[in-house]
Amino acid sequence: MATTQTLKKKRSQSPSATATKRKKKPAAKAKGWRTARTSDRHELYELSVQEPSAEIAFMERAFRERYSRVPTVLREDFCGTGFASCAWVQHRPNNRAYGIDLCTKTMAWGKGRHGTALTTDECKRMQWIKGDVRSTPTEPADVLAALNFSYFLFKTRAGLLEYFRAAFSNIKHGGLFVLDAYGGYESFSVITESRNLDGFTYLWDTEKYNPITGEVLNHIHFRFPDGSELRKAFTYDWRLWTLAEIQETLIEAGFVRPAVYWEGTVKKTGEGDGVFRRKTVGEACGGWIAYIVAEKPVSGKQKVTATSKSAAKRPAGRSAR
Ligand SMILES: C[S@@+](CC[C@H](N)C(=O)[O-])C[C@H]1O[C@@H](n2cnc3c(N)ncnc32)[C@H](O)[C@@H]1O
Repeated sequence: MATTQTLKKKRSQSPSATATKRKKKPAAKAKGWRTARTSDRHELYELSVQEPSAEIAFMERAFRERYSRVPTVLREDFCGTGFASCAWVQHRPNNRAYGIDLCTKTMAWGKGRHGTALTTDECKRMQWIKGDVRSTPTEPADVLAALNFSYFLFKTRAGLLEYFRAAFSNIKHGGLFVLDAYGGYESFSVITESRNLDGFTYLWDTEKYNPITGEVLNHIHFRFPDGSELRKAFTYDWRLWTLAEIQETLIEAGFVRPAVYWEGTVKKTGEGDGVFRRKTVGEACGGWIAYIVAEKPVSGKQKVTATSKSAAKRPAGRSAR
């Protein structure tokens, strides 16, 4: 039975942002603090919901649990500013990354912010590709990541399956698809959640949820100590997919052994602890976030290798933190 504490578990926008959500500073008026006028929405977005070092640690751990090596080729679908892909090529000297996104402006911002921080060698290993994730083939990746729920934009089962099939074709045999998802009873409510971050407040606003279609309309707003706001800095018109639907569709697309990594809970506060472990039973809490990891079979049809067999028998994944 769920305890009161687990019912209080809170969702931030991203699994990787759970550590960030515990950073608290009082929102006070002070000279030199951010205002809506002086702020950049992409920078605030990254500060609020992305943490590439945690994402990379998770992807490497999930890969190592199944295969006895580290992954080198990352394909980041919906890469946006390419924050995670750039961190990937910086992380190991042999790492390569493909960042795919439709939005030229967002990628241009990312190239200016993260691309310019790369060495000449790292630049050669980072490919920025403007394109639709469904129709932009690349070298098959060890890990294909679709994070911050970006694939929720596919609102029908057929649309989701089409994307998962495309993802399947862009992953090596013996590679992984890493996604995230959120849910919990609060996600079906028209509410706004806020988190105080370093000099600004992040607001996750669920404007609409339609229980008949599963469609959800969310916005991210930012509020500043001087009272100014960046309203609707980002808007997401999504389908709120359940973990069961996602896992079923992954299998339909050809993936095997989809596994859910559920976040642990800090007993004292009832909040997520930022550590994701492989679980088959989750808590029916108000808000949760989770990773889903699915395997592309080593060759052709489903094949359980010695390594993946022993990995499957291993207890829940260790934390990379
Ligand atoms: C929620 S943001 C994700 C940014 C980043 N990956 C993250 O983890 O926060 C979604 C991104 O998906 C891009 N996008 C939407 N539809 C797409 C498509 N069909 N193909 C490629 N990119 C797409 C948008 O331009 C946007 O940058």
